Amino acid sequence: MNRSFREELEDLRLEGLFRQMRLVEGAQGSRVILEGRETVLLCSNNYLGLASHPLLKEAAVRAIEQYGTGSGASRLVSGNMELHEALEIRIAAFKGTEAALVFNSGYAVNTGIIPAIAGRGDIIFSDRLNHASIVDGALLSRAQFVRYSHNDMASLRRLLSDVECSGRRLIVTDGVFSMDGDLALLNELVSLKEEFGALLMVDDAHATGVLGATGRGSAEQCGVMAGIDIHMGTLGKALGSFGAYAAASREIIDYLINRARSFIFSTSLPPAVLAAGIAALDVVDSSEGAWLRRRLAKNTVLFRNALLDAGFDTMGSSTQIVPVFVGGTNDVMEFSRLLLDEGIFVQAGRCRLRCTLMATHDEGDLEKAVTALKAVGKKLGII
Ligand SMILES: Cc1ncc(COP(=O)(O)O)c(C=O)c1O
Repeated sequence: MNRSFREELEDLRLEGLFRQMRLVEGAQGSRVILEGRETVLLCSNNYLGLASHPLLKEAAVRAIEQYGTGSGASRLVSGNMELHEALEIRIAAFKGTEAALVFNSGYAVNTGIIPAIAGRGDIIFSDRLNHASIVDGALLSRAQFVRYSHNDMASLRRLLSDVECSGRRLIVTDGVFSMDGDLALLNELVSLKEEFGALLMVDDAHATGVLGATGRGSAEQCGVMAGIDIHMGTLGKALGSFGAYAAASREIIDYLINRARSFIFSTSLPPAVLAAGIAALDVVDSSEGAWLRRRLAKNTVLFRNALLDAGFDTMGSSTQIVPVFVGGTNDVMEFSRLLLDEGIFVQAGRCRLRCTLMATHDEGDLEKAVTALKAVGKKLGII
């Protein structure tokens, strides 16, 4: 029997899983006006605060004046503009690859390139905690989809040995896992991909601009930049703009231009976001970028240590994504709701709050957040 949308929505409400958007007024920052009230923002991926950086805004405005607002078509039709190529040259240099290709979002990269690279007769080996867009990309491909236990290299090795494959093997992982902020074991993954002749793709949505001595991401942090076959990164998180990229050999990028459907059949990114992306990489490469990364790291350590001292479980995270274990779905939703009453905006995830730090949070923001977390944690009996 068909169930109505209303009935299904009611179920979501009863299970505490009904979600609603909240209105943020004005620009993104460490504090925002949320539904009329000033709130400390602890759930943005704008990690370096670049989404309202004057250099990015200026670059976007200049690009609109020179190139207009839209690209008008897919790149393979007539939408390939100078700024697309300039940004790709910049990204390839940033990641140390021969070439790069920009897409309209990280979701579009993963759902476009995974089915392009792996099809019938191929196997995708994917960490169990990979982002939904990787799962969707794998499901869209006709490849066999094998999931290994989270960061469990023995489990991956067993699967690589046991599952027979005459086609391509693609290992895919988040660089920084999006919910829990832990790092992939890239050194081991590079060794395994070499041993088994697989391709390795790393989704660095949460590490690009942030991790590594110069912000190149998780592969830089682990010292394996050259060991990754396909680097994926986003321009809409720490880079403060919009869109995403794949960076790889010239051959792989040429292949993707011809095979990735989300690239081929979609109007390309508009000039303003491309120019902002280039400006963001300039900031990341500047002394200001290094300062922002240091500041983000400092904020992260301060915040995490304060939560650990208070008795919270931060689930082993080592990055600017700091999960706080709470327990049942209703408790997490209630925790997030009570925090909002205290002027702290944090999203509830499965069993945990997902707190994200920004370089632009000041001591007052962090103190307010920690005080509220402790008060609500005590009230709910979490600590
Ligand atoms: C690990 C990961 N990959 C991909 C994406 C999708 O990127 P975008 O927001 O640019 O579509 C996200 C978004 O949150 C993510 O966390």
